Amino acid sequence: MEPFPLDRLPHRSDWTGYLLDPTRDPPGDLEAYTDIAVYDGIYEQVLDRYREEDFDREEFVLEIRGAGREDPGVISIEEDLFLASSAELVAREREVVRDALGPVLDGGETVLALGCGWGANLGVIAEEFPGVTVIGGEIAEYGVTASQELNADDPRISVEPFDFHGEWELFDERDDIVVFTRGALTTLDGLGPVIDRLADRAREGELLGGVHLEQSGPHPEDTVLGLLRRRYADVRGFDIDLLPTLRGRPDVSVSHVAYDVVGANPLHPQTAIRWRST
Ligand SMILES: C[S@@+](CC[C@H](N)C(=O)[O-])C[C@H]1O[C@@H](n2cnc3c(N)ncnc32)[C@H](O)[C@@H]1O
Repeated sequence: MEPFPLDRLPHRSDWTGYLLDPTRDPPGDLEAYTDIAVYDGIYEQVLDRYREEDFDREEFVLEIRGAGREDPGVISIEEDLFLASSAELVAREREVVRDALGPVLDGGETVLALGCGWGANLGVIAEEFPGVTVIGGEIAEYGVTASQELNADDPRISVEPFDFHGEWELFDERDDIVVFTRGALTTLDGLGPVIDRLADRAREGELLGGVHLEQSGPHPEDTVLGLLRRRYADVRGFDIDLLPTLRGRPDVSVSHVAYDVVGANPLHPQTAIRWRST
């Protein structure tokens, strides 16, 4: 990976150009990525592609992660920008998942990967942690089907429909649950009540805690990148308050925070967060 100068970000990121030049039109639908129908449409295409060829799981993750991005494209790591190939991005994302979950998994736990999309992460978790059971939950129907088909040969992975705002049957009759999310809570309308439900369950012993790779702030107020990230989340309707929301609960202890572990979109980087009940 080679370093990439912030000054040149508008060459590679239409959203940066739009945020800095108010005369431009937005490069896409502002709130598309908080709309479940948009995700379902994407997952339908992912599923069609998966069914077209006899893909190996890892190969397929690389193909889909690379789709629609420049190769190499700009990513962020710890507030620095780099030009990274899709393979380098996927390798970094695997490392980030492993490092986030590693300290809370001994083997024998159940990882509930909620809002799992088309299931890109489920295989990574199962491969990195051979003792754990992995259950994906997702609201988008094509996401559930794609996740199931992609992981059909792995007996430790199952996937079921799940709505953060609905009933949580996925939690029933399971022990040693760790909730994992990546980029899902930031898309929700109503993050606070979801965190309340998770924290209540943790307090009652139904959950060991949470591990998140979410685009949470607070972003720096005194750097160009930080200000761009604030504006980006704002115009696109993302909720970046996971960390302050967790910290606002007296019965939650946030044990780990690492800002910008990776930003496949450098304006929307993931913060790694671990928490448990106090
Ligand atoms: C940015 S995608 C992330 C997908 C996946 N976690 C990943 O890292 O590839 C956000 C996901 O959250 C899901 N989602 C949004 N609202 C949801 C809800 N109320 N219940 C469950 N999933 C939801 C979306 O359908 C989408 O799959």
